[in-house]
Amino acid sequence: MSDNSVSLSRWLIEQQRTHGQIPASLRLLIEQVARACKRINRAVNRGATSGILGSLGSENVQGEVQKQLDVIANDVLLEANEWGGHLAAMASEELERIHVIPHRFPRGEYLLMFDPLDGSSNIEVNVTIGTIFSVLHLDEGVEEVEARHFLQPGRRQVAAGYCTYGPQTTLVLTLGQGVSVFTLDAEQGSFVLVQEGLRIPESTREFAINMSNMRHWAPPVRRYIDECLAGTEGPRGKDFNMRWIASMVADVHRVLQRGGVFMYPWDRREPDRAGKLRLLYEANPMALLVEQAGGLAIAGTQRILDIQPTELHQRAAVMLGSREEVERLRLYHQEYEASAAA
Ligand code: AHG
Ligand code: MN
Ligand code: MN
Repeated sequence: MSDNSVSLSRWLIEQQRTHGQIPASLRLLIEQVARACKRINRAVNRGATSGILGSLGSENVQGEVQKQLDVIANDVLLEANEWGGHLAAMASEELERIHVIPHRFPRGEYLLMFDPLDGSSNIEVNVTIGTIFSVLHLDEGVEEVEARHFLQPGRRQVAAGYCTYGPQTTLVLTLGQGVSVFTLDAEQGSFVLVQEGLRIPESTREFAINMSNMRHWAPPVRRYIDECLAGTEGPRGKDFNMRWIASMVADVHRVLQRGGVFMYPWDRREPDRAGKLRLLYEANPMALLVEQAGGLAIAGTQRILDIQPTELHQRAAVMLGSREEVERLRLYHQEYEASAAA
């Protein structure tokens, strides 16, 4: 680390001291989350040498087979954040119920939600995976924390971020005042600021969607992708490129860095489910980051951050990224709804 580099700790202290943007308790909470991500990163890096690859045979509340690393990452996050005194409770993609901070520790004013390990299908093949997190403020005057206290619209998040475990270990963070990017300096063992005020390019020629589900999509999604695929001869008048990593963290990271749209829409495979991705652990934190970087995140005609959650493990359709493209997608959904209602 060179002398004039800014560590995450220093950056957070300056946000608190100079800019008055965050209280000390939120700063310390983010530090704890970052510390947990470093521990998960070490586990990921060791890979097969530590015997932690592969499935456990168990299923999580979502009905998905749990990998050993899903459970390890979940335990690391619970353990690292339990004793700090900044939290009242945590909720995780891997836990059926909320984890209330035990009475032996002081109780804080925040709620932490996480997807401990995003992109589990990529663990064994050594492709980028990550951790996604979101922080809410617990409503004033609550004595006993319950799941319903987590059911706040995403626009009320006080912080959100993710960490990618890939060629670089990168922490991307918003405290509601823009997006900052930190890369782990392995020798120093600390995250170092590499970008501030990140902005997503407004227009793009790149989309990310699992094309194998094409036959199950709703008409507005089909229309948008068909037009992209038609290239220079089609209504868009330009050729598009496609990427699909199958780790939301990695796909969204690319979108934040060079523009594009990321989509995991509702589809006909499971018509009663809003989508595959989870509102509280995946959609909301990513939507806040994207909007803080000047992009847009929608579920159809509705902005993701405006969805009023009704269940902890609720799903959402997700379409996010460069503003112009997501505006177009929203228009296609509006037009389709209007034509269906006529
Ligand atoms: P998780 O590993 O936390 O269950 O999330 C996986 C998600 C997301 O990261 C990714 O975009 C999507 O699943 C990939 O789904 P497909 O395999 O259907 O493409
Ligand atoms: Mn995930
Ligand atoms: Mn996960």
